[in-house]
Amino acid sequence: MTRVFSGMQPTGGLHLGNHLGALVNWVRMQDTADVTYCVVDLHAITMGHDPAILADRTLGLAMEFVAAGVDPDRSTLFVQSHLGDVHAEMTWLFSSVTGVGELQKMPQYREKSERVTGKHAQVTAGLLTYPVLQTSDILLYDADEVPVGEDQRHHIEIARDIGGRFNHRYGDVFVLPRAIFPEAAARVMDLQDPTAKMSASADSDKGRINLQDDPDRILKKVRSAQTDSGRDVAYDRADKAGISNLLEVMSAATGRSIDDLVEEYADAGYGTFKGAVAEAVVELLRPMQERHAELAADPGEMQRILADGAAKAREVSAPRLAAAKDAMGFLPA
Ligand code: TYM
Repeated sequence: MTRVFSGMQPTGGLHLGNHLGALVNWVRMQDTADVTYCVVDLHAITMGHDPAILADRTLGLAMEFVAAGVDPDRSTLFVQSHLGDVHAEMTWLFSSVTGVGELQKMPQYREKSERVTGKHAQVTAGLLTYPVLQTSDILLYDADEVPVGEDQRHHIEIARDIGGRFNHRYGDVFVLPRAIFPEAAARVMDLQDPTAKMSASADSDKGRINLQDDPDRILKKVRSAQTDSGRDVAYDRADKAGISNLLEVMSAATGRSIDDLVEEYADAGYGTFKGAVAEAVVELLRPMQERHAELAADPGEMQRILADGAAKAREVSAPRLAAAKDAMGFLPA
């Protein structure tokens, strides 16, 4: 059976990019694969974080996964820090087959290290070695496939490189994974600036649809989405970035092809088209929001799910770590 692993950081509530770029595939893949999904809280501390809200955000993110359709009975759902011993030790081993140069070249490292500001401003070693921890996450679970958005492409590539180098040096211990992207909306763009990806860290909330936004807010945000001065609804990423982004969102939200949508809305005018996009997004999110409210009423149940998940995850990952140490020649304890 194909094995799948993926994770998300508890850096705030989820947005439509997280959902369409990754979560939709997470849910779909449960039907055919052995899936493990993780709240990667150890990744969320590399840019500075607020200790007062980390735990709540971690639990809240797990609830968002389940609200979106991740089924705890058919998946392993856990919190990365609950297996911090395994993941961090594996990261140390992998860091000895990783070049500092290849980490410094990672696009997300470059971009994030430029954004480091504030009182304790510092480009941390954690930010640099972030992809090594991500490599451990994926390789410890023998993942064949990793469902992610387009922005994670380089992180999956470096995981393959590091795993391949380890196998080459010490023997075949790890499966090398491949990234799985959605057909539409692999990179959902900011509604106010369709040249930038929709992101939890954007200064303004206006360009981002949060999974918990109410229908009015969604309508307002979609209506004020930046578009070009033309009239036709057409797909052209270069010249009509805003409209093309909305077409991708609507295609992913409804399951209809972009061609089909263009045929229906070509001459409808931007106003009508935006109304239809907003409605599709509201309908997509409504059942998830209802389910989320139910889950939030019983945080104890979610804690139990995560405790079970951590135990299941340890059964898979602890032997992988042991195999890696054995291959590297450490004296058994
Ligand atoms: P994170 O937490 O930034 O994002 C979670 C997932 O959402 C996708 N995504 C998007 N997809 C489409 N359009 C967007 N605008 C958009 N924004 C975010 C991301 O591609 C991702 O799939 N480093 C990872 C977390 C991680 C991980 C892992 C992922 C840690 N370990 C192991 C996979 C496997 C991250 O920061 O994702």
